[in-house]
Amino acid sequence: MKQQREHWGTRLGFIMATAGSAIGLGSLWRFPYVTGQNGGGAFVMLYLFFTLIIGIPVFISELLIGRASQKSAVLAYNDLSHGSTHWKLLGWLNLITSFIILSYYSVVSGWTLNYTVMSLNNFTANKTPEQIRNIFEILFKSGDISVFWHFIFMTMTVGVVFCGIRKGIEYWSKILTPALFTILIGLFIYSTTLPGFPAAVKFILYPDFSKLTASGVLTALGMSLFTLSVGLGIILTYGSYMKNSDDIPKTGLIIGSVSVLVSLFSALMIFPIVFTFGFKPEAGPGLVFQTLPVLFSKLPGTILLSTTFFILFVFATLTSAISLLEIIVANLIEVFEWTRTKAVLIAGLLAFLLGIPTALSGSGTLFKNWKAIFGGDFFDTVNNITATWFMPISAFLTVIFISFIMKKNFSEQEFSKGTTLQKTMHIWFFLVRYVAPIAIFIIILQETGVINLSKLFTK
Ligand code: PHE
Repeated sequence: MKQQREHWGTRLGFIMATAGSAIGLGSLWRFPYVTGQNGGGAFVMLYLFFTLIIGIPVFISELLIGRASQKSAVLAYNDLSHGSTHWKLLGWLNLITSFIILSYYSVVSGWTLNYTVMSLNNFTANKTPEQIRNIFEILFKSGDISVFWHFIFMTMTVGVVFCGIRKGIEYWSKILTPALFTILIGLFIYSTTLPGFPAAVKFILYPDFSKLTASGVLTALGMSLFTLSVGLGIILTYGSYMKNSDDIPKTGLIIGSVSVLVSLFSALMIFPIVFTFGFKPEAGPGLVFQTLPVLFSKLPGTILLSTTFFILFVFATLTSAISLLEIIVANLIEVFEWTRTKAVLIAGLLAFLLGIPTALSGSGTLFKNWKAIFGGDFFDTVNNITATWFMPISAFLTVIFISFIMKKNFSEQEFSKGTTLQKTMHIWFFLVRYVAPIAIFIIILQETGVINLSKLFTK
């Protein structure tokens, strides 16, 4: 007997779960350090611009494909492609990308678990900012500890996905997402009082285009897709749990704005610390872990504050990791007719195994020559390849699919169901049909060296 597809219990629950997928390491961890590495303001502006013209329209497209097909990525692309057998490959690309991301996502999330426990032990007591910063270096080099936390985090993710969408994802998202917002805003307000705040604002908001490199443009696009969780079929799968009365464009705009705000707040909270204590903005993946504990150590109630923050941080990453695993599982169940238990266990185990080289990349115990061959450690490689290549390519194919493969009036009908923002339909369609594909295509050509746009600007 065909099982009835599970749907979201309440609209708020759905928004919270989708926001939970969007808000995670992307906004809180990746955005600040990538902004630091790419010189600040100009990068941030591009990120905002891409979110508006590409990220949100693709987000809406994914929800729409999901709801229209009531399937997960592989079968959704297959069913809506009018008999072509190729489009399901896009579903598979989504799946593989999610799988790789989940593997390293769990390692970084494991570090947040590690910092939660360290916070309970008041690890910053009697340490200088410099010493606090170095703790991350030690952690990064300790492969065994990273693998340990990676294992714990993956087990937690598997546990929630196992329970199914309503009881697991929706329930917890409703409670913890608002809690995270509250503490984030509180910390941001405190950061505004630091002496480095004006320098931080200037760094983040003042665009200096001379600091932007060509590859920074693709990174900004990847960043925008990554924070919104698009280009992976995740939003598509979440859309498949939506009802016809749910408002797709509105959801897209809300989630887009929320994730942009969280990214900006998190950068505005972290860079004042960077500038106040003379840290380097381009510190890389450790930035958040190196700076925030310094801030906490200066505040009253360090243990409580730091622990609460990292618990919420763990939660933010957990809801994202859940979404990554959920789509892998949803597809495996649909395509191979596996049971939920089997799909969750196999996918969780494989992602754990793939995460091991990432967890060990700082210690150099595995793949010793990886860096010499690939130019970055294993972690950098999987991190860059997925966000900078696979996600933009998949976003490109998604907009091509929605604007040229699906029938226009069919998509428009789906867009219109349940929405109060009917008027935005033409803008959306224009963006997905012309602006997004052309923009992504140009950026990819530029990045692969086929064209060189920077020549246009230099004489
Ligand atoms: N959007 C999530 C974040 O910002 C990351 C993520 C990417 C989650 C892709 C799911 C899919 O952390």
